[in-house]
Amino acid sequence: MTGQTTQTVAADAAGIALAVTALRAGDPVALPTETVYGLAAVAADGAAVARVYAAKGRPAFNPLIVHVADAAMAATLVQISPAARALMARFWPGPLTLVLPLLEGASVAGIVTAGLPTLAVRCPAHAVMQAVIAAVGPLAAPSANASGRISATRADHVAASLGGRIGLILDGGPCAAGIESTIVALDGASVALLRPGAIPAELLGITAAAPTGITAPGQLASHYAPHQPVRLDALTAHAHEFHIGFGRIAGDLSLSASGDLIEAAARLFDTLHAAEASGGTAIAVAPIPDNGIGAAINDRLRRAAAARPHDGERRR
Ligand code: TXA
Ligand code: MG
Repeated sequence: MTGQTTQTVAADAAGIALAVTALRAGDPVALPTETVYGLAAVAADGAAVARVYAAKGRPAFNPLIVHVADAAMAATLVQISPAARALMARFWPGPLTLVLPLLEGASVAGIVTAGLPTLAVRCPAHAVMQAVIAAVGPLAAPSANASGRISATRADHVAASLGGRIGLILDGGPCAAGIESTIVALDGASVALLRPGAIPAELLGITAAAPTGITAPGQLASHYAPHQPVRLDALTAHAHEFHIGFGRIAGDLSLSASGDLIEAAARLFDTLHAAEASGGTAIAVAPIPDNGIGAAINDRLRRAAAARPHDGERRR
């Protein structure tokens, strides 16, 4: 798949029409959402979804989130318990993904769920993604980055990560939230946090990861990784390090000089991309408070700093 020409176009009516044509033809398209850019394919089209896995270099055991227009569209795919319905009513459209039992006969290609009996569904609060879903139906879309690497919050991040491997990127500007959706699994009445994200767990009333027997197969220790090693809780930096600051620690580039966690989340991946491109041989990051959306920021940073897979394993 390498060697394709990758076109970036504005996410206006003409761009959306191009995206719809490409998706109907089975070609993956990178689209903006309120969290991060997604690499979308029609969820019912197994061959198209296989192209998404191939473009990202994503392991086949790692299932995808399906994006829907609303709760009614979700109800054609998954079993919705009263607890799930309440969460949808309160947080959709928005950055909350629910893992629910897949309905038998739902038009979702088997490759989307990696064979699991559950499906992750999310209703994005983004006009472009909503317009595309309205035209082609449910969209399977992982984050639009090479597997294991830094997520994309701008069209040029997508081009840097997947250029030559996909045909089309819709440029909708920077993503407002800048960090992925919060993922929860519902099993009967019990709710478990599978991934901290843009909606703080406190808001969902989830205090601890309740055991449901459902896990997120993609939550690997090393993820969101720049090329360089990453050191956390760095009050100061060594000479060779690019220092990412927060609050009173200025660094070379700050996530938020005023110590605002929402701003820090929105700038996190852009700042990691800048640090990676800086030419420094290592990256140091100032301490980030763990409350609110800080929990999601620290989750991403811990994985960015984790030991990388050994030589021989591809890091795409
Ligand atoms: O904000 C987001 O959620 C973005 C945008 C594009 O919507 N998407 C995103 O997708 O972050 P991705 O593929 O990068 O992360 C999805 C996570 C993975 O860790 C995957 O293992 C988990 O969701 N997941 C998907 N389906 C699942 C399922 N049925 N059960 C458990 N975990 C699941
Ligand atoms: Mg991802």
